Amino acid sequence: MSDCNAPVGVFDSGVGGLSVLREIRRRLPHESLLYLADSAHVPYGEKSPEYIRERCRTIAAFFVEQGAKALVVACNTATAAGVTELRELYPDWPIIGMEPAVKPAAAATRSGVVGVLATTGTLKSARFAALLDRFAGDVRVITQPCPGLVERIEAGDLDSLALRVMLQGWVEPLLAQGCDTLILGCTHYPFIRPLLSRLVPRDIRLIDTGAAVARHLAEVLTERGRLAGGESSCRFYCSGDPQRMAEVLPILWGEQAEVELFSGRNSRRGGVSQFDAGDN
Ligand code: DGL
Repeated sequence: MSDCNAPVGVFDSGVGGLSVLREIRRRLPHESLLYLADSAHVPYGEKSPEYIRERCRTIAAFFVEQGAKALVVACNTATAAGVTELRELYPDWPIIGMEPAVKPAAAATRSGVVGVLATTGTLKSARFAALLDRFAGDVRVITQPCPGLVERIEAGDLDSLALRVMLQGWVEPLLAQGCDTLILGCTHYPFIRPLLSRLVPRDIRLIDTGAAVARHLAEVLTERGRLAGGESSCRFYCSGDPQRMAEVLPILWGEQAEVELFSGRNSRRGGVSQFDAGDN
């Protein structure tokens, strides 16, 4: 885990974390990246915290085995359920989590009312309650779970009529209550930012945390003297259908790439690898 040119492991329940991956790539172009979409278990937002913690443990163990020098939990829901336990399990491994951008939104709002779009799991978590306690101050924060939205984005729907109607149903009540700032509290949602921007008045701010996570990763790697130099690569793994993910990569990642199957089970009895992640 100490080699500077070792990769950084990044994961989400599906393709949402690609919105974070692209910020990491922009900020840290020399870092090699491993991205795992846990698509066989998406959406995390409607699963129990214990279920998500089990997925976090399995995926983290895979990245350790791959020699990742750091882990980015590119998912608000998995961070809320699992990052504390991961940090206990791997105290010396840099683990970057992410949370809805309550602090910057509270600083940015002029109306004093902020809306949070996120998964049910994130909004119900103790971690989110603590975040509000720390940073909301006098600002009124209205939460809006968005069940079904992640599934639409996973299916590649970024701009259909049905999606528009769904979003309007969530966003209009927030605007009616005076929100002038909307937090995109799930890593899937930046992919529908263009549609959202068209649905809300121009002076409504939309805030997400992808760039902040990339900045934080850069700081952590710099502090530990582990920034990579030279050529980089990016490998993709998926616990669902790799072919499907390969089809959406050009849209969400901007490039074609091979996607390897990750089963996350002990599949090579007595073999070298604990994980079945393709033929590498
Ligand atoms: N993209 C994830 C998040 O940031 C999880 C979405 C889901 O699987 O429900 O919360």
